Amino acid sequence: MKIIVTGAAGFIGSHLCEKLLEGERNTVVGIDGWIGPTPSHVKTFNIGPLLAHPRFTLISENLLAAPLHELLRDADAVYHLAGMPGVRTSWGSDFEAYAIHNISVTQRLLEACKNTRIQQFIYASTSSVYGEKDGKLSEGMEPAPLSPYGITKLTGEHLCRVYHTTFGIPTVVLRYFTVYGPRQRPDMSFHRFIKQLLANEPITIFGDGTQSRDFTYISDCIDGTAAVLGNEATIGKTINIGGKEKASVNDVITLLEELTGKKAVRQYTASAIGEPKHTWADLSLAEKYLHYCPKVTLKEGIAREIEYIRTLYREEEQ
Ligand SMILES: NC(=O)c1ccc[n+]([C@@H]2O[C@H](COP(=O)([O-])OP(=O)(O)OC[C@H]3O[C@@H](n4cnc5c(N)ncnc54)[C@H](O)[C@@H]3O)[C@@H](O)[C@H]2O)c1
Repeated sequence: MKIIVTGAAGFIGSHLCEKLLEGERNTVVGIDGWIGPTPSHVKTFNIGPLLAHPRFTLISENLLAAPLHELLRDADAVYHLAGMPGVRTSWGSDFEAYAIHNISVTQRLLEACKNTRIQQFIYASTSSVYGEKDGKLSEGMEPAPLSPYGITKLTGEHLCRVYHTTFGIPTVVLRYFTVYGPRQRPDMSFHRFIKQLLANEPITIFGDGTQSRDFTYISDCIDGTAAVLGNEATIGKTINIGGKEKASVNDVITLLEELTGKKAVRQYTASAIGEPKHTWADLSLAEKYLHYCPKVTLKEGIAREIEYIRTLYREEEQ
């Protein structure tokens, strides 16, 4: 199978490429334009292990300009993970980049899938489409994003829907819930917290730290994402991919103190705008269609991210 992965040098994309290459009959073409909040050298670190793989090819191009028809011609499946991530930075003049990389790029890719033999187009969406809701978030709820980021990702979902219903593009939408673990983006909270704690700096927390998230460890997210491939029952569906545990930000910092043996200096700042107070994934559809069952506890997952952060910044110092 020839599989296209957009956003291959990113956090989730690089892990997904590695997982797909475990299938001995798979070849993977990763496309990445080196765009977004993560510095290039971190992406180089992400993608390093893949570059030597004989069944992996990297195309370093912006999807807005890349020759998509040529790239998709003999592809069997597309995982579309490229995008401009991050809720807090999607306001103001930065919005344009969100509109371009999350909306226009998705439309261009879907358009290029017409009249191809693509069997699945899998789109990485987000729990941010839900907005503020009580209890578990299930896919049938009406989305009401609180941020421009969530709006652009929801627009991408709608594009998938209309290209599916109008042109028969076999789209699948996955809604990821706060993914963490090795290679997590430097702008994301666990990465920032761990880096600050290891450097003996105060930990900066948006709001009072009682906000909670359904945290998804990267290998669980990847298992759920990979399980979509070749699974025809998922076509036209929207499926949550959440984690094993939810916790508050304050709980996470306490866990970090326990795991590092360091006392955190907690510096509370104004709440971030555009973020819900709580997220909690209903995983019934993921269980039904993907036999999805997240395995990694927060304690195990955070311990692995701490190891990664130590290595990343040690390498940077050299
Ligand atoms: N990380 C999470 O917790 C999370 C949660 C929900 C949804 N998502 C979604 O999952 C996807 C991957 O997220 P991530 O955390 O790995 O982000 P990331 O920034 O690490 O990866 C995204 C990659 O897409 C690439 N990219 C962006 N625009 C591009 C373009 N026009 N052409 C080519 N490449 C382009 C970037 O260079 C980057 O390497 C995103 O679509 C994001 O919205 C992530």
